[in-house]
Amino acid sequence: MNKFDEIIERRGTGSVKYDGLEMLYGDADLLPMWVADMDFKVPEEVTKALVERAQHGVFGYTLPDPNHTIAPVEWHEKRNSISYDRESIFFTSSVLCSLNLMIVGLTEEDDTVMMSMPTYGPFVKVPTGAKRNWVGSSLVKSESTYNYDFEEFEKQLIENDVKLYILCNPHNPTGRVWLEEEIERVLEICHKHNVIVISDEVHSDLIMPGHSFTPAMKVARKLGYSEEIVILTAPTKTFNMAGLQVSYYIVENEEYKVKINEAKDYTHVSDLLNSFSYVAMKAAYEHGSDYVDELTSYIYSNYLYMKEVLADKCEFVKVTDLQATYLTWLDVSSLGISEENLRVQLVKSGLAVETSQDFFEINDVCIRINLACPRSVIKEGITRLVSALNELR
Ligand SMILES: Cc1ncc(COP(=O)(O)O)c(C=O)c1O
Repeated sequence: MNKFDEIIERRGTGSVKYDGLEMLYGDADLLPMWVADMDFKVPEEVTKALVERAQHGVFGYTLPDPNHTIAPVEWHEKRNSISYDRESIFFTSSVLCSLNLMIVGLTEEDDTVMMSMPTYGPFVKVPTGAKRNWVGSSLVKSESTYNYDFEEFEKQLIENDVKLYILCNPHNPTGRVWLEEEIERVLEICHKHNVIVISDEVHSDLIMPGHSFTPAMKVARKLGYSEEIVILTAPTKTFNMAGLQVSYYIVENEEYKVKINEAKDYTHVSDLLNSFSYVAMKAAYEHGSDYVDELTSYIYSNYLYMKEVLADKCEFVKVTDLQATYLTWLDVSSLGISEENLRVQLVKSGLAVETSQDFFEINDVCIRINLACPRSVIKEGITRLVSALNELR
């Protein structure tokens, strides 16, 4: 048996994915394939390190000590062939917390922030919450993937006087891994118009066969723009430890560092994380390489299984190529139904998933499915999906 086949009861653990179902979908018994966390255990070494830390018994304010901060540096060197300086890495409890810091620290009220559509919802909600404007630049859909329209992208930057662009690398929800030349074009255009780039790379460890991840900082350094970009990332998606809350941003520009630090002071965002987060991160990065490879291959098999069933039973569904992440994006526009009907039917068929409106997608009717669960759960989930879609035919 593959270790990822194990069914782990998560109900009653305060799991947002399970225990939040009643509140969010009105039915606690749905099969949850929505929020981006996994139904898998962390690598054994992470649990062991946490137990050891727990046994110490004292949990006062905790700093990232050098012993901890070397782990991400070594991880990125090994997995992504990029060297980050430890002095450029700063910790926060979550990627969105870092994003908020970038927005309040590096832009002014009423400035405009841009992201590519469809988009992870908080990329809109964080700037608007901070009284910034937002504008979406649409990605263009081809048969089974999404691409930039660079002319449109530049036009939007100019017309809206954009100050900061959020690059989602790889992209949630389309699962797209951007190629080096695409990142290059994005950075060139942003440089030309004085736009700061924030590259959210939280999904960059889960890259599917046949694809490879390009860190935006690598491209920025090549172009001489490393001072115009900030990287946000974390081990939390990769190792399923969002509940432990650890993330970091990488910034090489000294002036940005000062501005972000000022924002830290008045937002009270601190790198004094909980006593377990650094320990978990260190253990995951030090021991988790094989885990990530096995996990990626398991997720990809889930994807292939889903694709095969849909091709057989719901051929009208357009399945977007899964290049990265465990989130797959299905276009069901050809059904010609309203998104509201779709949402009602999905719940009726026992499934909790997210759809277009959660990603500010207004042209197509799409469903995002979280594939990070045991194969038997995927089988049940896809059976429910097929039944929902066939009801709507
Ligand atoms: C692209 C992206 N960024 C950030 C987050 C949230 O990360 P965090 O929980 O660390 O704020 C998610 C979660 O799904 C995500 O998909």
